[in-house]
Amino acid sequence: MLVAPSLLAADFGNLEREMQWFNASQADYLHLDVMDGVFVPNISFGFPVLRHVARLCRKPLDVHLMIVEPQKFIPQVAELGAYYMNVHFEALTHHHRVLQQIREAGLHPAITLCPSTPVSSLADIITDVDMVLLMSVNPGFGGQQFIPHTLDKVRQLRQLIRESGSHALIEIDGGVNLRTGQQLAEAGADVLVAGSFVFGADKPAEAITALKCLS
Ligand code: DX5
Ligand code: ZN
Repeated sequence: MLVAPSLLAADFGNLEREMQWFNASQADYLHLDVMDGVFVPNISFGFPVLRHVARLCRKPLDVHLMIVEPQKFIPQVAELGAYYMNVHFEALTHHHRVLQQIREAGLHPAITLCPSTPVSSLADIITDVDMVLLMSVNPGFGGQQFIPHTLDKVRQLRQLIRESGSHALIEIDGGVNLRTGQQLAEAGADVLVAGSFVFGADKPAEAITALKCLS
């Protein structure tokens, strides 16, 4: 299993220390949750913090933009040297155009679906993305309960990917722990995002290793 711990649950007063153990951990990506208080009812952090974290982090960055008009920020995300740029399906009108622009900027395009957006919405763009992020909570806050219907969506998405010949990875975000992580692994998930399960653990690096062992 690939694991992308979410910085949202980290100690923002000690980012250097958090990044030190994180860089030495088995994490595959660092997941960064940007919220604008418009697309979601919460505000997290913006580019000054992202630039600081990007300098400290030795793992590829998975930037999850929970904002309106994410296409305006493609150059700034590219300047960070990010790996994935995750934009919400619900925040876009011209999905195909924006995904191409993200790729042209040298980033890996990823599309995110809220819990109420069906997997079938992706039928005509599934081969244009490198990853699909299924939200397993309503976006905006860490520490929420996993929505079990996500497991059906993972199975539907796995089928769509197989039938279309897409190479997209399936990433899940929200309420991930060892129990839901095991269910997601069995349903066909490739990447697990985890905030409170990792940063709230007594031994965060061991929490990451435990998630990585799921299959
Ligand atoms: C929620 C964010 C998540 C959040 C997950 O809107 O997209 O990435 O950090 O937090 P947990 O793992 O605590 O549910
Ligand atoms: Zn996220």
